[in-house]
Amino acid sequence: MKFFIDTANLDQIREAQDLGVLDGVTTNPSLMAKEGIKGEENIKNHYVKICEIVDGDVSAEVISTDYEGMIKEGEILAALHPQIVVKVPVIKDGIKAIKYLSSKGIRTNCTLIFSPGQALLAAKAGATYVSPFIGRLDDTSTDGIDLIYRIVEMFGTYGFETQVLAASIRHTMHIIQCVEAGADVATCPLSAILGLLNHPLTDSGLKTFLEDYKKVNG
Ligand code: G3P
Repeated sequence: MKFFIDTANLDQIREAQDLGVLDGVTTNPSLMAKEGIKGEENIKNHYVKICEIVDGDVSAEVISTDYEGMIKEGEILAALHPQIVVKVPVIKDGIKAIKYLSSKGIRTNCTLIFSPGQALLAAKAGATYVSPFIGRLDDTSTDGIDLIYRIVEMFGTYGFETQVLAASIRHTMHIIQCVEAGADVATCPLSAILGLLNHPLTDSGLKTFLEDYKKVNG
């Protein structure tokens, strides 16, 4: 089970990296905009900065929606750093672009997946990752975790090597549910990762241990 952090915030990426359990980073145009990163060169530099902080894969999303534009952008993004994975939306030209990029040895993350059929097409095109969006499905009264189960089962049945990267994770319980569903990766906000540490019995147990130590040792 790999943990990615879903942010373009360098401080949060550093904090997750310092924890020693980070396997990669995912970004998207909204997350880049949230950090105020704008302009082609600044955006590219920001991706390189992220790659220099973490050891693992860093998803960088194309903004073109046509085949030619996506492959051109994908090749430019992939050339920035060996850790870059090109993130492509699951639209018709996106599937074609994934097929082309994977034939060139460029790794891809097919994003905005909301159905098993979309994941199937992305896997057949050779995507390295598919990103089903759990939280956004939950927002529409549809069980996002159920989609993870269905895609994991489908990939297992047919032996697809494409990894299931659960995205749009909103809280700690989503992470646990992704583990139970067999997702290969969960990309999470830092707060959801840190939330895994929370347990009142840990807090009270530690307090007692320290108090007992003090009673004897002063
Ligand atoms: O990176 C894509 C995804 O994680 C977005 O999450 O919370 O905006 O639905 P959210």
